[in-house]
Amino acid sequence: MNVPTSPAPDLAGKHIVLGLSGGIACYKAADFTRELVKAGATVQVVMTEAAERFITPVTLQALSNRPVFTSQWDAREANNMAHINLTRAADAIVVAPASADLMARLAQGRADDLLSLTCLARPIERCPLLLAPAMNREMWAHPATQRNLAQLRADGTTILGPGSGDQACGEIGDGRMLEPTELLAELIAFFQPKLLAGRRVLITAGPTFEPIDPVRGLTNRSSGKMGFAVARAAAEAGASVTLVAGPVHLPTPRGVTRIDVITARQMFDAATRAAASSDVFVATAAVADWRPVAFNDHKIKKRPGAKAPPSFELTENPDILTTIARLDKAPYCVGFAAESHDLLEHAREKLERKGVPLIVANLGPATFGQDDNMLTLVDASGERELPRADKLTLARTLVAEIARRLGARA
Ligand code: CTP
Repeated sequence: MNVPTSPAPDLAGKHIVLGLSGGIACYKAADFTRELVKAGATVQVVMTEAAERFITPVTLQALSNRPVFTSQWDAREANNMAHINLTRAADAIVVAPASADLMARLAQGRADDLLSLTCLARPIERCPLLLAPAMNREMWAHPATQRNLAQLRADGTTILGPGSGDQACGEIGDGRMLEPTELLAELIAFFQPKLLAGRRVLITAGPTFEPIDPVRGLTNRSSGKMGFAVARAAAEAGASVTLVAGPVHLPTPRGVTRIDVITARQMFDAATRAAASSDVFVATAAVADWRPVAFNDHKIKKRPGAKAPPSFELTENPDILTTIARLDKAPYCVGFAAESHDLLEHAREKLERKGVPLIVANLGPATFGQDDNMLTLVDASGERELPRADKLTLARTLVAEIARRLGARA
């Protein structure tokens, strides 16, 4: 039965201390707080005095549903030690925006206000610190800031961004704080286990489009969602990911290198080029099996009185997965089988015919364009069903399965 599943909130059960230091990007922190809460996190906001000049604690209290802390002398805490209490149950401190001044103070281990004090007093082994820098491009590029940045990284701090582009001061360059949705994606990725760290993963996704004339072509109903979810999950797991995408309108997952193609032959060229330097290849694309032999330069017109509609001679497209699986130094290859019937039988046949160690089987018509799916992993040792779930959850499980098999192979 096709019962839609809503994805489990990605930050369910996570407690985040969100620090704000002074900067115009404080206005984005309000939205970021909302995103964190929507993703299931509980959020405790801590603000510096400078941050309060840009946005009021009232706004952040309303959005986080908790009183905001602004002072190390806050008498609300029974032991008067907000700087200690705040992080003992926290899964991470995220400072967004992190100003140049705050970064300088943290790099030196200073503790002259509640936020820096809280960062210094956190249990460093179990409460990681993530900073989202936000400043003018000259401040960012200054050797002092870059020195502080290197020190913070050496101390185990994770730096989110910064982005590049128009700045509030009117200049253009590096130093913009990442957008709230980008920060959220980075934080969700941060919490995923790094099962594919150091691995290079190649993925094909979406349909291909085989032109007949300038306005028509052969294609299929693949939305690309499953392949994009696998790309995101692999990147979250620490892999460097190349995604060869057919014509789909989906945003590129953060940190993923995307190569857009239209036809099966373009996908073949891009994928075989990247395969030589890949450790894993996941072929999720619904590659058109055939293409018209000839391309009409002009739109084919209806001819009044013509007895028969036009007919097209087709020729077979190259098989990307089979070709890559047979390379001398083939990556670990995973195929997808989208079937309309006799799922396992077809999947097993494809395992043999394509010469790959793992096939992921699913019912094509039931999943095209949907946000959820049901998968069956088929390999030489048997079958494993992954119950219906959203595509990102399934992709993360698939990535874990691939990582386990790579580990066993090493
Ligand atoms: N595939 C590929 N290149 C092709 C055709 C398929 O890389 N030219 C890959 C798909 O990305 C998928 C797997 O092969 O991972 C199976 O694709 P599918 O279309 O189900 O298999 P076909 O070999 O085309 O068999 P059929 O269409 O007859 O079911």
